[in-house]
Amino acid sequence: MNIMTPVKPPMPARAKSLSVEGLSKSYCNINVLSDLNLRVEPGEVISIVGPSGAGKTTLLRCLSGLMPPTSGGVKVGDEQVREPVAEIGLVFQDYRGSMLPWMRAVENVAFPLQGKGVPKAERLARAHACLADVGLPGVGERYPWQMSGGMQQRVAIARAIAYDAHILLMDEPFGSLDAQTRFDLEDLVLSLRKQLAISIVVVTHDIDEAVYLADRVIVLSGHPATVIDNVDIELGANRDQITTKADPRFAQYRSRILEQIRRPPAA
Ligand SMILES: Nc1ncnc2c1ncn2[C@@H]1O[C@H](COP(=O)(O)OP(=O)(O)OP(=O)(O)O)[C@@H](O)[C@H]1O
Ligand SMILES: [Mg+2]
Repeated sequence: MNIMTPVKPPMPARAKSLSVEGLSKSYCNINVLSDLNLRVEPGEVISIVGPSGAGKTTLLRCLSGLMPPTSGGVKVGDEQVREPVAEIGLVFQDYRGSMLPWMRAVENVAFPLQGKGVPKAERLARAHACLADVGLPGVGERYPWQMSGGMQQRVAIARAIAYDAHILLMDEPFGSLDAQTRFDLEDLVLSLRKQLAISIVVVTHDIDEAVYLADRVIVLSGHPATVIDNVDIELGANRDQITTKADPRFAQYRSRILEQIRRPPAA
């Protein structure tokens, strides 16, 4: 197989698009986001980049249903998102705050399934399987304090996929990890995407990470922020930390995006 040929994974029947239609958000009359329109297709990976304070986290909160937009809306398929929904999973930068410290890894992953009415034996079996999917077989019995930061972030990802979310929203998920752990987790995201055909929206400050992970990079900037660029990343589905990042097109994408982020917003 040609390694540069994009290979779309088979779509599960449950997969739906995530769309943002005319979304604006203000805090106390300060406009942060203005009239955003975007669509994430089933199985697509999108990176969102932009200067600090541009409104990236605000956008993810609106996408997840944690916060209502001031105007416009978010839809999963044809359904308006008005509160957190089962189809959407969230992974934040602060893995320490997202784990319940008195629960073992397997219980942390299984816990949200209780609310779905999944029987205990099935919850635990599913949690162990998802821990294996994220490269943590056999660590289910450990408490968060017995795991490294990278392992805890893997547990957070396992929890999202155990819940059967098919859209994963990630806000700076690997921002506080060392470079090697970060690369390993980027590769985990790419393999989960292939294996489970989930859609992923990842916010990151790291332009290399944005390009490496995504089918498309959205650049947000301005006050209020709008989408100032939408870059299709045509690097194929089979990516590798060494060869993909050495591809001349990788450098071109990185330069184009960096230039947009560093440019002062139009007056
Ligand atoms: N709850 C809030 N109330 C009032 N203003 C807020 C609130 N949350 C964020 N803001 C403001 O909205 C703007 C966008 O914040 P946001 O956190 O979405 O930016 P960001 O792009 O995620 O930044 P960073 O890259 O630093 O994480 C900032 O000016 C911030 O101060
Ligand atoms: Mg943020």
